[in-house]
Amino acid sequence: MPISLSMPFLKLAHLSDLHLDMSRESDAAASSLVKALVAQDVDHVVVTGDLTHRGANAEFQRFREHFAPWMETGRLTFIPGNHDRPGEDVGSRFMEGRKVHTVEKTGLYMVCVDSTGEHNRNYFSSHGELTADVVVQVEQALSAAPPDVVVAVLLHHHVLPLPLESFPEWIATKVGLPHASELALGKTLLERVGGKCDLVLHGHRHIPHELDLGQPGERALRVYNSGSSTDLGRFRVFSHLAGRLVGEPAWCQAAEPAKPRTAVHNVRPALQYLVGQLGMALF
Ligand SMILES: [Fe+2]
Ligand SMILES: [Fe+2]
Repeated sequence: MPISLSMPFLKLAHLSDLHLDMSRESDAAASSLVKALVAQDVDHVVVTGDLTHRGANAEFQRFREHFAPWMETGRLTFIPGNHDRPGEDVGSRFMEGRKVHTVEKTGLYMVCVDSTGEHNRNYFSSHGELTADVVVQVEQALSAAPPDVVVAVLLHHHVLPLPLESFPEWIATKVGLPHASELALGKTLLERVGGKCDLVLHGHRHIPHELDLGQPGERALRVYNSGSSTDLGRFRVFSHLAGRLVGEPAWCQAAEPAKPRTAVHNVRPALQYLVGQLGMALF
């Protein structure tokens, strides 16, 4: 279809790593993002994991309440991240037990991938899992994509190495823990999806990143890490029309700047996890 500037663009927003909890700060950050999504008149929202901070049902309920305008109209797609797996393991229900499934919306074909594993039930084991079988499933899903839509692969964990973001990550990496490692088959996945999809959207790393992989086939491939939308107080919006991306994605700032997460946000659930594990070991 020839593209005319008078035609209305569709807008896809990419958010990730909200880490919602029951605090006032968390609610304020989510509200700001939602106001900005409304102001941008976004058509579809994707959230690539770590919706919740400790996998609690109540935290997921907060997410549902904040994002109700998109959830109730079928304009919200989300996948699990490692932080959705501890505690009450809400993330295990996000994709109904499937490792790969597809979502089709106007102008969009999204292949959702669950890159979490059972090891993520442990709060301290955050790296992802991508098996050869799942890579094959992604390829098969992409082969069924219609030609006239934007095709995106959504997953939580990063597919290529990205810089360390904190001192604890540096320590973990020095002692050989895979805490900050990319998916073992991430590079393989990119080689297999090249030319068959336009976007790989992920999170997990809280500092945003983007990578242009050129045009390995019929479609140019770009990899975008959203970063933590609540920490950053912003998200990317991709405009698309007639099944093609239009221009560069735009960063949209939330109405109010996000409050930086305090150390308590991470330390408290970590201590609760340790106490819970100790309790199980003793009794
Ligand atoms: Fe995260
Ligand atoms: Fe994560």
